[in-house]
Amino acid sequence: MRASVLSDWLAQRLDRGNGQPIYRQLHRLLQQAILSRELPAGTKVPSSRLLAQELGIGRNTVTQVYEQLVLEGYVSSATGRGTFVADSAPDEIVGAPDAEGPAAKPEPLPLPLQAKRALSTRGARLIAGAGVSKRQWGAFMPGVPDVTKFPARVWSRLHNKYWRRLRPDLLTYAPGGGLALLRHALADYLRTSRSVRCTPEQIIITTGIHQSVDLAVRLLSDPGDVIWTEDPCYWGVRSVLHVSGLQSRPIAVDEEGINPSADDLAQPPKLMLVTPSHQYPLGMVMSLARRRMLLEYARQNQCWIIEDDYDSEYRYGSRPLASLQGLDTSGQVIYVGSFGKTLFPGLRIGYLVVPEALAESFATASAELYREGQLLQQAMLAEFIAEGHFTSHIRKMRTLYGQRRQTLLDAAAQRYGDALPAVGGDAGLHLVMQLPEGTDDRAVAAAALARNIVVRPLSGYYAQPSLAPSGLLIGYACVPDEEIAPAFNTLADAIDATLPQFA
Ligand SMILES: Cc1ncc(COP(=O)(O)O)c(C=O)c1O
Repeated sequence: MRASVLSDWLAQRLDRGNGQPIYRQLHRLLQQAILSRELPAGTKVPSSRLLAQELGIGRNTVTQVYEQLVLEGYVSSATGRGTFVADSAPDEIVGAPDAEGPAAKPEPLPLPLQAKRALSTRGARLIAGAGVSKRQWGAFMPGVPDVTKFPARVWSRLHNKYWRRLRPDLLTYAPGGGLALLRHALADYLRTSRSVRCTPEQIIITTGIHQSVDLAVRLLSDPGDVIWTEDPCYWGVRSVLHVSGLQSRPIAVDEEGINPSADDLAQPPKLMLVTPSHQYPLGMVMSLARRRMLLEYARQNQCWIIEDDYDSEYRYGSRPLASLQGLDTSGQVIYVGSFGKTLFPGLRIGYLVVPEALAESFATASAELYREGQLLQQAMLAEFIAEGHFTSHIRKMRTLYGQRRQTLLDAAAQRYGDALPAVGGDAGLHLVMQLPEGTDDRAVAAAALARNIVVRPLSGYYAQPSLAPSGLLIGYACVPDEEIAPAFNTLADAIDATLPQFA
């Protein structure tokens, strides 16, 4: 990297919203660029005045970082001539503990360098297409529930209870499939709340939907097989599929859900991945006719349907809808769900419900591949469900999110009237605000991020973003009621700045 592109490289990586002081971020980024030889020995770094100006930060900050790097031997400064990358950089610094605690994870290396180093083709493709956001909390992070409302006292009572008496059976590796107690509690819940037909033995506990999909595609397909995915669909599972070597065939959705054309139907896939209760991210519900058609097609063509039921507990105004799995009479559906949205994402507990004939293979494979554990958390969770806390938490959160959704819709209507309609808002944790055709929704999202607001561009969920409709995914669940309207106004400023017709 030439010194002249250094400022851009740094500007893309400095994150004012991640809670880390700019001084520390800049220091670490420069160390990293020098250690990776992206800034080769002898390179003259920009003056502190110029770099401060280009990054929009205080000159003192840059001066202090340069002084620190001089002390550490990364750069040397020659009076009157400037600051230069030293001939040999100390290489023990990356990952070393620093004064403020254990080492923070180093920033990912610039892509070309990663690819050059060691990544396989699929690894490089995964990283290049990665969609994960650095921020996972705050206005308007889609898909994140309000974790501050989690009944922490109940959880900590259960936690203490299980740790008071050490139980080796809960601290060792998990038998394939997970803790029987949790599988029983879940079977009851899924039968009554989601109309899922299952016995506890058909349930396999995983770390969430990502892992459930990973396990299902590994066991039911081979590299090169075709999987139908909805277009648009969740980027996370798309990544899981690509790494498994599957070929995704994006299938358009309409108001009734996934809508394969005659051409699609003529080439049956091995698997399909659908979100029937709440299409992600657009929010429609798959019609009964479409459900029947898919099940019949899957039966006739021997394909598997993976049903991702990630957030269907949250419907405002109507009862939660029954699962597709509940209509399946020929054992074609693999149902996947998660406690990530109902409790908290960091819990990392999810589950699959598989046809009876596959249950044992899935349990064995899960243990073979992932060497599972977390039985203690599973025991706590089973008791949490059995004592009724799970359903009452969902009930409470449904009311809260319904109010937040309305507050957001009101704020949007006040600012834009009908000009920017919202879709998919009657369920889930986010809604989609449509932007005028041709709008660069990535630019709008970037402008919002510069104002400390996270939204996701809708086009990024489509197989061909350049041809996709434009919009923003706005998550309201994790934003306190009183912050929604002000945060929306900040977002609207970003929209107006990018779309002159609204300014
Ligand atoms: C459609 C969809 N499926 C799955 C997930 C991830 O679920 P988990 O956290 O259980 O892996 C998400 C997360 O936002 C999602 O939106």
